[in-house]
Amino acid sequence: MYSAVAAEGLWIAAEAPVEQPSQRREAWCRTADDEAHGAWFLAHDGDTELVGYLAVIRGGAEHADFAMAVAATHRGRGVGGALLDAAVAWCRATALSKISCQVWPHNGAAVALYRSRGFLAEGRLRRHWRRRNGQLWDAIVMGLVLDEHSPGSGLTDAEMIR
Ligand SMILES: CC(C)(COP(=O)(O)OP(=O)(O)OC[C@H]1O[C@@H](n2cnc3c(N)ncnc32)[C@H](O)[C@@H]1OP(=O)(O)O)[C@@H](O)C(=O)NCCC(=O)NCCS
Repeated sequence: MYSAVAAEGLWIAAEAPVEQPSQRREAWCRTADDEAHGAWFLAHDGDTELVGYLAVIRGGAEHADFAMAVAATHRGRGVGGALLDAAVAWCRATALSKISCQVWPHNGAAVALYRSRGFLAEGRLRRHWRRRNGQLWDAIVMGLVLDEHSPGSGLTDAEMIR
């Protein structure tokens, strides 16, 4: 499923072919598999067919990043929303203060999904990711703050660099 989404060429960071082992990818998968560091959320159609995944990885004590995809055959049916709702609930239950992700600026479906769950665009990483064809793609960082109650730095807007 992951290979098929990568082969679409437009939505996730991975590019086809993804069959060759990648130490970085394997390390990332293992990290999400370790309860102290992350969690996997999987959507199945019937007993066996995997039709969606979402992996959350804690980046620091209170922050997590995630990546997700739904099989092309199963999009637009609530699978992605259900995966993200489960992941956000897990982050809240784990007392994380924030969850965020990166999304390509052309990925309207993902941006709509994240916005529908309260995520805000926090900035744009310009020419940040090299693609195999040599192009450099921008990415938007989107975040959902889970702890709105702790105080901020206390500095005023006037004291911030613009
Ligand atoms: C982005 C993706 C995960 C969405 O999953 P999905 O199962 O199709 O989404 P859902 O059907 O659960 O829809 C969730 C919300 O997103 C919105 N949405 C989904 N697809 C949309 C589209 N093509 N255009 C506009 N809004 C869309 C829906 O309005 C919905 O809102 P609601 O829950 O308030 O009704 C899916 O399109 C996908 O896997 N794409 C390829 C991989 C990818 O882009 N991964 C994310 C990388 S950052």
